[in-house]
Amino acid sequence: MASSASAAPTGEVPDNANQHCPGTASDQAGKSAACAGCPNQSICATAPKGPDPDLAAIAARMSRVKHKLLVLSGKGGVGKSTVSAQLAFALARRGFEVGLLDIDICGPSVPKMLGLEGQEIHSSGAGWSPVYVEDNLAVMSIGFMLPNPDEAVIWRGPRKNGLIKQFLKDVDWGELDYLVVDAPPGTSDEHITITQCLQGAALGDGGSGGAAAVIVTTPQDVAIIDVRKEVNFCRKVGLPVLGVVENMAGLVLPVERAAFSAVRSKRDGAAGAGAGAGAAEAAVEEEEEEDVTAAVLALLAERFPGAQLRLRAEVFREGGGAARMCADMGVPLLGRLPLDPGLGAAADAGRSVLPEAAGAAGADAVKGGLEGVAPQACIAPLMAIVGKVVEQTTGADGKAAAAK
Ligand SMILES: Nc1ncnc2c1ncn2[C@@H]1O[C@H](COP(=O)(O)OP(=O)(O)OP(=O)(O)O)[C@@H](O)[C@H]1O
Ligand SMILES: [Mg+2]
Repeated sequence: MASSASAAPTGEVPDNANQHCPGTASDQAGKSAACAGCPNQSICATAPKGPDPDLAAIAARMSRVKHKLLVLSGKGGVGKSTVSAQLAFALARRGFEVGLLDIDICGPSVPKMLGLEGQEIHSSGAGWSPVYVEDNLAVMSIGFMLPNPDEAVIWRGPRKNGLIKQFLKDVDWGELDYLVVDAPPGTSDEHITITQCLQGAALGDGGSGGAAAVIVTTPQDVAIIDVRKEVNFCRKVGLPVLGVVENMAGLVLPVERAAFSAVRSKRDGAAGAGAGAGAAEAAVEEEEEEDVTAAVLALLAERFPGAQLRLRAEVFREGGGAARMCADMGVPLLGRLPLDPGLGAAADAGRSVLPEAAGAAGADAVKGGLEGVAPQACIAPLMAIVGKVVEQTTGADGKAAAAK
């Protein structure tokens, strides 16, 4: 049987395996004619076979979760946790039942970004209880298990994989519309484990287990190069890509938060004088910088009375690097999220950027330190991104959920 070229392998096929390898999980592993002379033969013949026994338990929990959104990026620091947190807040605001799972074992940001630092997990007969931000927003992170937030988690792959499995198998998520998963950067242990667990637990939906990737990048080439690899990772492991979010796509801030300076050379007519090594440094040393913020703001207020002025700048790169990559790779662009100081402040304060949240919490917004750094430019693009996510996962605009 194993020598038949048409039989699909069961489980993994090692890179150095013989042709017609029956797969490491096959009951023929190490025994079939194709295994003769294979360097893995003795390991395959003695290793335990069959499906991972945890998969049945994961399938039971995950069958109650309609959509699993894996927030991924090949690059670190591009805003995966920020997007995960705000996506979870916004989906919950629309009336969906939402879970947020942090699988960044070594650098969990979710407790801070959801305002849940210092919270602990409780267990009951039904499993580990997630921490609730609101009735319909449940959160789980290794951050809730550490004795102090500065504790370093120095774990090798198998231990991380074990915890991720436990998060899927033992957490009492209940019925969820969305489970948003905040991942560490890259395409390594955590990503492979969660994808395999969700696919292994798939219940006849074509194999992805209801999971899809939301990929985050910045407009910079250095990010996009890594993100292309992430898209290819998704293709290799059979994880559908829901779309790409281009984050930090330009800086937008209220003009009052900008500082203006007038720079002049100390040496009259010195500009352009001197040449050779060190000339540029000398020119900079001889510059004089005067803070003219107050004068510029006064002029602007006089010129545009009553208007709220916003300053826009392309910090990294103009010209839609993510849009081009999406067109090249045939994946949808979900939207562009600008650098907005209000979004950074919301992440630090552990809250949603949505205006209703600040309004509903009134005094809380002030306590949370958001006064004066109210999120502005990010709100409309974020809402558009959330709308597309809902549309693509439910085939509807999701307004029905808000009426639940
Ligand atoms: N659009 C934005 N506007 C303002 N600040 C932002 C924006 N996106 C992210 N940030 C800030 O940038 C920092 C990095 O973001 P974040 O932690 O979400 O990135 P990450 O991709 O999850 O990083 P890591 O790879 O380390 O997990 C955070 O301080 C966050 O508040
Ligand atoms: Mg992160």
